[in-house]
Amino acid sequence: MKISRNSYQIDRFPTGDSAQLVPLDECFLSSDTLIEDVVTVCNEEAVYNILFERMLGGNPYERSNAEWWFGWSRDGWMSGTHSVWALMKDDHIFGAINLKNIEGTTAEVGYWCSAKEPGYMTNTLNQVLEIAREAGFKTIYAWVRPGNERSGKVLLRSGFEFKGLRPYESTAFPDPEAEYYEIQI
Ligand SMILES: CC(C)(COP(=O)(O)OP(=O)(O)OC[C@H]1O[C@@H](n2cnc3c(N)ncnc32)[C@H](O)[C@@H]1OP(=O)(O)O)[C@@H](O)C(=O)NCCC(=O)NCCS
Repeated sequence: MKISRNSYQIDRFPTGDSAQLVPLDECFLSSDTLIEDVVTVCNEEAVYNILFERMLGGNPYERSNAEWWFGWSRDGWMSGTHSVWALMKDDHIFGAINLKNIEGTTAEVGYWCSAKEPGYMTNTLNQVLEIAREAGFKTIYAWVRPGNERSGKVLLRSGFEFKGLRPYESTAFPDPEAEYYEIQI
């Protein structure tokens, strides 16, 4: 699957400010500042509680976690197993989105964004769906923990269908029952 490595402008709803969606591939230069950005956002309550609390056993998201993430992102683009993009403004990262678990023309989408920058994620997801469609993907799915209303709303705004509660078999944080969403593109 040939996924575009271009950068894209993402407009914020409804103000029209903009950010850049940038692939975190082997051409992307990480830095101390960007690592700190990721650490800061991933320790924000809303992001940490949903994505990292269980995985990290309640310990803070550290620099080493961010460094691992940059490496994982680069490796994914190189091997074709997953694609990760950062949302950037004024040379700072404030959000991210990925396509992972790529199997044939199907992939899972995941994302996080600073609560200080609302209004970007739906438009970001729409852009990634367009990139995926152009690459030849047919089905994109997402898992949402029950109670994570903000994430479910992002998916519904982007046209995903809620398919019901299903067991989520993830090595990082399995859930006996999670919301499963899917879109045909
Ligand atoms: C999930 C998450 C990315 C959502 O971020 P967000 O800022 O709420 O998402 P959006 O930018 O799409 O929406 C923000 C607001 O702008 C509005 N909006 C954004 N784009 C819009 C669009 N194209 N059309 C209409 N409204 C839009 C939304 O209605 C929403 O308004 P509300 O706050 O009144 O409900 C964020 O809460 C997060 O990172 N959570 C923790 C991590 C997480 O849950 N990840 C997903 C795991 S499945």
